Amino acid sequence: MTQDIDILISEVGPRDGLQNTKQFMPTDYKKKWISAAAAAGLREIEVCSFVPPKLIPQMADAPEVVAHALTIPGLNVAALAPNFTGAQRAMRAGVHKLTLTISVSREHSLSNVRMTPDEAIASAKKICDFRDSLPKDKRPIIESGLSTVFGCTLEGAVSEDEVVRMAVASVEAGCDEVGLADTTGYANPEQVRRVFTKVRAAIGGKLSGAHLHNTRGLGLANVVAALEVGVTTFDSSLGGLGGCPFAPGATGNIVTEDLVFMLEAMGLRTGIDIDKLIAIRKIVAEGIPGEPLYGYVPDAGVTKGFVPATARG
Ligand code: COA
Ligand code: ZN
Repeated sequence: MTQDIDILISEVGPRDGLQNTKQFMPTDYKKKWISAAAAAGLREIEVCSFVPPKLIPQMADAPEVVAHALTIPGLNVAALAPNFTGAQRAMRAGVHKLTLTISVSREHSLSNVRMTPDEAIASAKKICDFRDSLPKDKRPIIESGLSTVFGCTLEGAVSEDEVVRMAVASVEAGCDEVGLADTTGYANPEQVRRVFTKVRAAIGGKLSGAHLHNTRGLGLANVVAALEVGVTTFDSSLGGLGGCPFAPGATGNIVTEDLVFMLEAMGLRTGIDIDKLIAIRKIVAEGIPGEPLYGYVPDAGVTKGFVPATARG
């Protein structure tokens, strides 16, 4: 992370958000959204996923969206892939960062990627080996995005030992980073502190960020818990769009607008201009008319006399 921010927010709306909407957001709107998000100060955006268009038609334009994002100077362009085919497509498109979705829960893994967790690790190894065979300037950072870490809508509780084992296995497979995702919105703050601490004890600095959903309203409480144990990278989604189509009942991510407000009010610099961020909702609302957008700060406005930490420098 650069010196001028304290927290890296990775906007995942164009991927996690749009994979779950009923409508296809026209490609031009996706491009406008990504450009506006970068102009508002976001340094990393997960712009799409490389999945079969037959299964998730919302992502059919993934290569074109990546090509656009790559024209934006300084932006870290991330994408998600569920398997080797998708990872190859993402690398061909030239992404800087590739997140592999790897479920800790067996049932979610089978439903989401049609592999057992161990098969998904074997696939991650194949992907990392392929990446290492590419010329140096074509190799993305590979993140193991461990999902259903805090609980699964299909299986219920998920073993913390299993989370640690999958994190270690991801690193052994060649992943540069491991992020922990509360795909289903099951996490509570105490659990977040405990699980991040356990995983850090096992893999140290390879532990990257937190991907939290607000399904039960605990999203920002979980962010504060993660901050307390040293997490400095958070995924979030504009308007709280999002959810996994293969985890029944999974709903939106934490809302980027509310997250930025909270962090900036706490004195943590995100580098993001909250007014410009809130203005992006208009583009998104036009691109997927009728789709609900969430968030408190966009409705209530920031507090009177609010001076964001980023503006204080
Ligand atoms: N991108 C594009 N095409 C792909 C692909 C990918 N990532 N993965 C597989 N395909 C194609 C194959 O080439 C094959 O095409 P064909 O029928 O023309 O030969 C077809 O899709 C079926 O391939 P197969 O390997 O049998 O895949 P599958 O049907 O078992 O599906 C996944 C497996 C992983 C691709 C699928 O479960 C998936 O996309 N899951 C993603 C879930 C997701 O994104 N969830 C949200 C994130 S939490
Ligand atoms: Zn998610």
